[in-house]
Amino acid sequence: MKRESHIRSLFEPRSVAVIGASAKPGKIGYSVVRNIVQGGFKGKIFPVNPQGGEILGLPVHASVAAIGEPIDVASVIVPAKLAFSAVKDCADSGVKNIQIITSGFSEIGEVELERRIVDYARSRGARILGPNIFGVFSATSHFNSTFSASAITPGRVAILTQSGALGIAMIGKTAVENMGLSTIVSIGNKADIDEADCLEYVMEQEETRVILMYIEGVKDGERLIERVRGATWKKPVVVVKSGRSRRGALAAASHTGSLAGSDEIFDAVMKQCGVMRAESLQEAFDWCKFLANAPEPKGTSGVIVTNGGGVGVLATDACEKYGVELYDDQGALKEVFAPVTPDFGSTKNPVDITGGANSAAYNLALSATAAHPAMHCTMALYCETATFDSENLVPMLRATYDAHDKAGKPVVYAVVGGAPVEDAIVTLRKENIPVYGDTYSAISCMGSLHRYHRFNRERDDQIDLADIDVAAIDAVIDGALADGRGFLLANEGQSVMRAAGIPIPGAAIAKGMDDAVAQARAIGYPVVMKVVSRDILHKSDAGGVALDIENDGEVVDAYQAIMRNCRAYKPDAIIDGIEICEMVAKGTELIVGARRDPQMGPIVMCGLGGIYVEVMKDVSFRAAALSRGEALKMLSEIRSYALLLGVRGEDQKDIAPVVDTIIKAATIIRSVSRITDIEINPVVVYEKGMGIKAVDVRILVRK
Ligand code: COA
Repeated sequence: MKRESHIRSLFEPRSVAVIGASAKPGKIGYSVVRNIVQGGFKGKIFPVNPQGGEILGLPVHASVAAIGEPIDVASVIVPAKLAFSAVKDCADSGVKNIQIITSGFSEIGEVELERRIVDYARSRGARILGPNIFGVFSATSHFNSTFSASAITPGRVAILTQSGALGIAMIGKTAVENMGLSTIVSIGNKADIDEADCLEYVMEQEETRVILMYIEGVKDGERLIERVRGATWKKPVVVVKSGRSRRGALAAASHTGSLAGSDEIFDAVMKQCGVMRAESLQEAFDWCKFLANAPEPKGTSGVIVTNGGGVGVLATDACEKYGVELYDDQGALKEVFAPVTPDFGSTKNPVDITGGANSAAYNLALSATAAHPAMHCTMALYCETATFDSENLVPMLRATYDAHDKAGKPVVYAVVGGAPVEDAIVTLRKENIPVYGDTYSAISCMGSLHRYHRFNRERDDQIDLADIDVAAIDAVIDGALADGRGFLLANEGQSVMRAAGIPIPGAAIAKGMDDAVAQARAIGYPVVMKVVSRDILHKSDAGGVALDIENDGEVVDAYQAIMRNCRAYKPDAIIDGIEICEMVAKGTELIVGARRDPQMGPIVMCGLGGIYVEVMKDVSFRAAALSRGEALKMLSEIRSYALLLGVRGEDQKDIAPVVDTIIKAATIIRSVSRITDIEINPVVVYEKGMGIKAVDVRILVRK
């Protein structure tokens, strides 16, 4: 059965049973029944409790089996020790979705019980939401099976949250903010249904304009990536993820029983999928509320209008930080704003209409930005002044917001001042007018809008795969595993590189002097020569290494010298031959890697390589499902990218084969499931047209 086939019936059921329904106000089993009834649910409601009786006028059934009708959703609210049998009854009665509100499972180490419950439900074709959740709300079906104390206002924002308590708190906050919800669902321990499943519902839900996810840890990153990629095409997705700090990650791990993934990887992968990560819940709320109401900008040019130079500069900084471009046609700016700007003001962007500006001046200036076809969005700033007719502040903000709204243009306001200004913020936010008490908050919202649309304009969801010889790589891994190793030897790693077509330094083992000359010529001078003998571990000590051999004559001399030295060093040593290696010229050293992240799945990495990798930590990550364009973007993000472009008159380095290597490493990790880690370091990069060399490679494998 397809995983998603159930998901809509979880949010839009035709019938719901509440197992552990209670007639006692104050109990969760009561609140859930009350919320379903009072929420206006049109389907059938069946409270279940062996004690029977009535709850809110509904007859109580002794068991699920006794209902005798098809049930789309059952909400389980009995203590953990009774949960398995409650789920069993539901699954045996053909219930499609079972939401388990009860706590006391994997989050406190009861992993086995949780697994048993899910296995049983799945074996009967039922899906589990939770356990350890507060329930589900969908505005589409007027279905509120949460135990929230406050009613939920229907609206345009969908919230998917791993933390139930935070979810309940968010319901309260959305009420205060007048930010209506289209859906809210708590995913809890996500023993079965996870955020990827719920995304499937909300991305298609007509009422949802914006999706907000609160995530502590990811369990199946690959599926999540696929889903959010689909979702961001349709609507903005904002994520708040805890566990950014080390301590935070530990707290999150003990909180939900799932380990928080490496934060940098999560961050990079979400960015790659167009998901916007907010720093805080407040920022996430601000973005969501704004994104739910703002029109799509018709272009990228914004105008700042201010009555104070200081906040104007702050706003300009914020525009740079959050990626809002500023309109720059000085002639047009002068023409539009000169009538409302005194000589000591400025018509340059930020437009400073000065501290003397009254509401009429603001009305004129902001009507002009709403009307001007080349000004695509407005950021209006106001600092409280004695000359402003403050009784007109709220009407001015309303009127200019309406003008922008009618023109289909986004606008944000940042207003700073005392009690009347604070009151204006509270009043207007209730009307969903985007007014903030701080410049950065206002402009970060405008930035999120531009970022979302820019991402979709420029997005590149193509997945480029390289042509690699998987069978040859598998054969190498078979050998290593048969040998009892979880890692590949140097020559095995080189075989994998060859199978993937990643250039490695040339090397061959010569069986005699003439062969040595032939091999050295084939590889190309200069070369290095090394004795090959299992009896000589320290080759240099034995005089078994010769560097920088430049011609045939030197090969002959070195060959004789190595043989002589080694025989003197260990007369009975068995010498298998002499290895002739290409002498790798100096170049820019990078690292390219790939790994199977336990949470986010296959990922690739590139960065500054060599011996400073750990110190510099100049690396960037992506999900391994990526295009060449994305691989180049990833490379260009590292601080050392300037070294590849060439500094101080150096020539540009050969970037294309580095991109090839990233795609090849990504292809290996995606197609060879027994490889868990690949690290190629250094990848020596030469000047443009001269290619690269993967000098050293380490590969970890598993059964
Ligand atoms: N079928 C149906 N009802 C049953 C039952 C069964 N097999 N066995 C017991 N019940 C009834 C009980 O009789 C009781 O009804 P009553 O109120 O009429 O007496 C009701 O189910 C609940 O059982 P009770 O033992 O009173 O438990 P409780 O209400 O104190 O606690 C939970 C139950 C689920 C709320 C509690 O175990 C829990 O997990 N709390 C945390 C919930 C939470 O925070 N979740 C995460 C949110 S983010």
